[in-house]
Amino acid sequence: MHPVILWTALFCIVLAEKSPRLKFTVQEPARFHFTKPQNYMTMYHQQGSNVLYVGGQAVIYMINFTQKGVQEKQISAVTDEISRQSCLARAVAKIECDNFITVIEKVNDTFVVCGTNAGTPKCWLLVNNSALTDMPDNVQRISSSDISPTFPSQRSVSLSAGGSLYSALSAMGKQIGSIRRTYSSKKLLKTENKWLLSEWAEYKRHLSTTSNSQTPKSTMAKTKELSKDTRNKIVDLHQAGKTESAIDPQFAGAAVIPATEKFNEEIYIFFSEINKTADLDEEPYRARIGRICMNDEGGTKTVLPDSWTTFLKARVRCGAGSTPQQYNNIKRAFVLISPYRIGVMYGLFSNAWGTTVVCAYSIQDIDQVFVKSKLTGYNSPLNGNRHGTCGPKNHTTAQYPKRLEVIRDHPEIEDVILSVGEAPLDLPTEDHFTHIVADSVLAVNDEHYIVIYLGTEQGKILKVLHTNEEVFIISQYSLFHNEGPIINMAIDSQKGHLYIGTAMEIQRLPLADCSRYGDTCRECILSRDPYCGWDLTKKRCLAVPANYNVTTGGLLQSLDQSNASVCGDTAALKIRSTIPKEVQMHKDGPVLLPCPVRSYHATYSWEKDNCIKRYPCTISGSSCVLGSNPDLPLKEGVFRCMATESGLKQEVVSYRLVFNAGPSATSSATTLALSVLLAMISFCLQ
Ligand SMILES: *[C@@H]1O[C@H](CO)[C@@H](O)[C@H](O)[C@H]1NC(C)=O
Ligand SMILES: *[C@@H]1O[C@H](CO)[C@@H](O)[C@H](O)[C@H]1NC(C)=O
Ligand SMILES: *[C@@H]1O[C@H](CO)[C@@H](O)[C@H](O)[C@H]1NC(C)=O
Ligand SMILES: *[C@@H]1O[C@H](CO)[C@@H](O)[C@H](O)[C@H]1NC(C)=O
Ligand SMILES: *[C@@H]1O[C@H](CO)[C@@H](O)[C@H](O)[C@H]1NC(C)=O
Ligand SMILES: *[C@@H]1O[C@H](CO)[C@@H](O)[C@H](O)[C@H]1NC(C)=O
Ligand SMILES: *[C@@H]1O[C@H](CO)[C@@H](O)[C@H](O)[C@H]1NC(C)=O
Repeated sequence: MHPVILWTALFCIVLAEKSPRLKFTVQEPARFHFTKPQNYMTMYHQQGSNVLYVGGQAVIYMINFTQKGVQEKQISAVTDEISRQSCLARAVAKIECDNFITVIEKVNDTFVVCGTNAGTPKCWLLVNNSALTDMPDNVQRISSSDISPTFPSQRSVSLSAGGSLYSALSAMGKQIGSIRRTYSSKKLLKTENKWLLSEWAEYKRHLSTTSNSQTPKSTMAKTKELSKDTRNKIVDLHQAGKTESAIDPQFAGAAVIPATEKFNEEIYIFFSEINKTADLDEEPYRARIGRICMNDEGGTKTVLPDSWTTFLKARVRCGAGSTPQQYNNIKRAFVLISPYRIGVMYGLFSNAWGTTVVCAYSIQDIDQVFVKSKLTGYNSPLNGNRHGTCGPKNHTTAQYPKRLEVIRDHPEIEDVILSVGEAPLDLPTEDHFTHIVADSVLAVNDEHYIVIYLGTEQGKILKVLHTNEEVFIISQYSLFHNEGPIINMAIDSQKGHLYIGTAMEIQRLPLADCSRYGDTCRECILSRDPYCGWDLTKKRCLAVPANYNVTTGGLLQSLDQSNASVCGDTAALKIRSTIPKEVQMHKDGPVLLPCPVRSYHATYSWEKDNCIKRYPCTISGSSCVLGSNPDLPLKEGVFRCMATESGLKQEVVSYRLVFNAGPSATSSATTLALSVLLAMISFCLQ
């Protein structure tokens, strides 16, 4: 036996810190299965409750998560027969001739529910949590097709704020995109068509000039390396260029931006627009933030009578500096904000190759850009109260017809909004993200830490700590039996729950999932989970309570860096801690000793007889396996699997290998011991 062999692979895993530190597979019940796949789903959840409303195909599920399990109630929402027949007669995709629920929102105390109703959108009120009733006649001129998209695949955003419903519908087919106030006692307002469509006419012009100079062949060649999704989109774009159908804008989210003065409250709407000058091998988008004031009451009889008088849009950039690696298509957005308007906006972006990244933006930065920038195409000085900024009612409207004309003709600002650190967050790029939410967590040092939750195409959830310096992937959860993409998520910071939906299942996860980190101080601290702290008296990893008192506290955390030395002597004492499990085997028999890998940020190795000899292990799935082979026979003795992380070494598991007399003397106990080990391995290898 060459000593060299022993020393070659001492540390089996030195994994990228970019990977999740822990990987959890959750097999607990608290989940709800749909009887048929719900490929489109809308969610409504009120903070602090245990009930999730899920709008699916012709049905609303009220899912009540209780101590005993999940209670479910279905409220039927079928399409009326006239709409269905007329849809079947004209629709290309017959599958869309059903009532897909697209909106569930509570406006004051009224539940507004809307669905596609087989291509003829319709809204109802949900009464007593049990039945849908038609909208009462006294509701002002409500047009369901302004609230709900016509088809389930048409992206839309609804936001209930200040007793009004705001709706953004993406363009599709002959329908152009819009941002409206739709259900309100205030004046119902909308965007001017050209505010969201202005690029479109130019893009078509651009296409008609480029298609003259480019043969279809070279177009094919150029688009070959692109993702299928993008190829289809480009084909759509070209076809749309010829027909009159619109695809611009596509909405990604909306949020209320609070203010200390009520008249300064705003709504941000996130969307992608076509970039008319993009090359054929680029994803032809640009990301946008649109902004409106909540107290907007529209213009005068002659200028912008039914339109916003405060709408402005800005370009958002996600990508490193001036590199060509830009992510132009914003897919989702989530805003974390305090009542004092301090906050962060997270955007999920993709590029033409289908790579998804997350960019973070400071709300104060966004404010500054909106305050300081010139309006595109408008060169006169902006005196006094700027166009598009909020103000008391009498500021914005009738007295300033000139201003209204400027607003009407110049909806865009020139400056570009840059992300924090001017680059996407350092997250694994092999994961394709589909959804994002975030939470601000008060840690035991009385500071707030941000935790981001990312849903992936493979049905996994990443839990990520985002500090000023870095991102740290606390864990990855595998929650679902079917590995479909995460379609929707809702976060309840008040109750501490994350609701997650795939086409087949709904799952709920506690935000403070501290018991999973193990029962040592070191494991608790190295988790770097701001929801959890090590309780010095109870000697357990516990959730930081809402009323935690910083001075009398007694919980330990180390969030800014992985540093378990805060645990003091307790960590050192744990080093030789496991009781070796006895494994009997024949002298020349095969043996495989498994060591479960917990932290993917640790390095693992095997040691024999208190470190006299060291052995390499082979990583198989979530196990570090030590096996005998002719080059490296295992002798009798104690084998310990050691994990080293953050400068500290810890024993994970140990075995005492004992040779028995020979094959003839193999007792049933020995066979059992071996088969148990092999079973453990096959479990770990799954
Ligand atoms: C949910 O279940 C709990 C416990 O059974 C019950 O008290 C509560 O009323 C239910 N909520 C709804 C909305 O059905
Ligand atoms: C809702 O409940 C109220 C009071 O219990 C009842 O009067 C009303 O008829 C119910 N409405 C519907 C649509 O069930
Ligand atoms: C919501 O409540 C507010 C305050 O009570 C009221 O002014 C407003 O009209 C209500 N909204 C709707 C849509 O009824
Ligand atoms: C559109 O795409 C072109 C080509 O990549 C790029 O140079 C330009 O900056 C983009 N324009 C906007 C407004 O995004
Ligand atoms: C707008 O109204 C406020 C009070 O509502 C008043 O103090 C202010 O002077 C008014 N401004 C203008 C320009 O009329
Ligand atoms: C925390 O505990 C200290 C000491 O008991 C007490 O003086 C202080 O008021 C407590 N703080 C809060 C916020 O409850
Ligand atoms: C870890 O924490 C200890 C005690 O708080 C401190 O003395 C030490 O410098 C820290 N180590 C690192 C690498 O920051």
